Amino acid sequence: MLDRHKFLEKNGLILTVAILATVAVGGAVEIAPLFYLESTIEKVEGVRPYSPLELRGRDIYIREGCYTCHSQQVRPLRDEVERYGHYSLAAESMYDHPFQWGSKRTGPDLARVGGKYSDAWQRQHLIDPRSVVPESVMPPYARLDKTPLDFEDVEGRLTALRLEGVPYTDEMIENAKADVEAQVDPFSPNYDAFLARYPKAQVRDFDGNPKSVSEMDAMIAYLQVLGTMVDFSTYEPEENFR
Ligand code: HEC
Repeated sequence: MLDRHKFLEKNGLILTVAILATVAVGGAVEIAPLFYLESTIEKVEGVRPYSPLELRGRDIYIREGCYTCHSQQVRPLRDEVERYGHYSLAAESMYDHPFQWGSKRTGPDLARVGGKYSDAWQRQHLIDPRSVVPESVMPPYARLDKTPLDFEDVEGRLTALRLEGVPYTDEMIENAKADVEAQVDPFSPNYDAFLARYPKAQVRDFDGNPKSVSEMDAMIAYLQVLGTMVDFSTYEPEENFR
């Protein structure tokens, strides 16, 4: 056996061909199943598309470049899980186009920041980070609080995401504008219909100013939903994904 291998090792060209053949077999074994597997993402209960208000918050998150300092991906390593909570599941970012996993952590990971702080804390922190975390190097985003949210085109945004495969229904798209207003107003006549479309969505005036819908409302609604869709007290991985 070793003798025969010596022959390979002494003939560069034949060795190259043999390496290529080996790598090709390995590649085929890894890649071929992806073509006939129905899905590589486990379906997980609770994961739903973003509500129009949360989606606008996400757009602002991307516009402001929050991802340059914050990742949204808890890796399955002990220190991360102890600090941030359950490791991220693929399904939790299946409706993110583009996804916000990131790799830069000047600030903490935000994949599970939803519910960690009150709305008032989030608002104060975004207006002036150092007023709540004195050693913070995060820049202030006070203008979000003063800028009315532009949601004229929100139907178009949902439609575009539907082309990407996010299951927004016609009903969701038709009601998108009304749903932005419904999510910041617990007394809205659309309350029940909104919650039927986006189960368990959080409905309240996020920025503490009921008179208008601001960019701050959208940003806080987005931050507060991050990592909260899956109920990990009942979550069991599917057989194939354990
Ligand atoms: C220059 C880097 C930088 C940018 C850009 C940045 N942050 Fe931060 N962020 C930080 C740092 C550092 C911290 C930790 C100190 C603190 O809490 O302020 C932090 C903390 C946070 C926290 C608290 C997280 C926790 O678990 O305690 C939230 C929420 C947050 N940032 C949201 C945002 C949002 C939303 C944006 C975009 C509008 C943003 N950040 C932009 C650096 C940044």
